[in-house]
Amino acid sequence: MRILFVGDIAGRPGRNVLASSLPDLNAKYAFDFVVVNCENAAAGKGMTDSVFDQLLKIGVHGMTSGNHIWDKNIFYPTLREDTRVIRPANYPPICPGFGYTVIERNGKRLALLNLQGRVFMPPIDCPFRAADAALADLAEKEAPNLPIIADFHAEATSEKKALALYLDGRVSAVVGTHTHVQTADEQVLPGGTAFISDVGMTGGHGGIIGVASETVLPRYLTGLPAKFEVCDKDVKLNAVVIDIDDETARAVNITRVQTP
Ligand SMILES: [Fe+2]
Ligand SMILES: [Fe+2]
Repeated sequence: MRILFVGDIAGRPGRNVLASSLPDLNAKYAFDFVVVNCENAAAGKGMTDSVFDQLLKIGVHGMTSGNHIWDKNIFYPTLREDTRVIRPANYPPICPGFGYTVIERNGKRLALLNLQGRVFMPPIDCPFRAADAALADLAEKEAPNLPIIADFHAEATSEKKALALYLDGRVSAVVGTHTHVQTADEQVLPGGTAFISDVGMTGGHGGIIGVASETVLPRYLTGLPAKFEVCDKDVKLNAVVIDIDDETARAVNITRVQTP
C-alpha cells in the first residue's frame, strides 16, 4: 500500500497547489490513499463543508486535523457525522468528532489516528494513553495487520519522537504536523513504523508558517493582537510518501516530497 500524507493545507493557496500537484504525483507514485491535514484549509482557520467537498473532489480520501479544527463551529455537524475527517482523539469525549477512523478504497482499508501533543500546547488528555485506547479498539473491531497512520499534531520534536518510539511496531507510521516546517529526519524505526517529526505545510512559504508576514510581524514587535491573513507567496506542497507491506502493515519506506 502506498499513501500520500500531505502536511497542513493553509487556505486557498494550499488547496490550489494540492489540486495542481496531485495529478502528476498520482501518475508518478500511484497512491492507494491520499490523506491531508485539514486544520487550516478554510482561510487558515478550521474547515467548512464547501472546503471539505472541494478536498474530496480533488482526490483526498481522508483528513486529519488539530487544534485549529475548532475555529469554525459551522463544521462541527460534519465532524460528528462524517468518518472521512477526524480530530485529535485526546480531546475530551464531549467534543464533536472522531479521533480515529477506517477509510476504504478499492477493497483496501486504512486506519487513521489523530493525536495532539501537550508540550507548549493547550492541556488536554494524554496522547499516549489515548493512542493505547484507540489501538485496543481497532484491534478488537478490525482484522489483524490493518495499516494505521497516526498524525501526531504537536509542537515539540521530543514529544513527537517519544510517541513514535512508543508506537513503534504498533502502527504503520507516525507523522508529525502542526509546526508547518518540514523536517529532514524521515526514517523507518526498528519496529517498522515510519516516522517524520513534521511533514510541513502546503501553502504559501513566503510568509511565516503560512501566514502573511505583514500580519504576523507587528504582533512580535508590539505584543498587540493582530488579524492574520493567509500567505500566497512561494506556494508549495509538503508531503511524505509512505510504503507499507500489505502482509505485515509495517512501513518499508518513507520519502519526503516538496512541489513544485
Ligand atoms: Fe496547522
Ligand atoms: Fe495546529
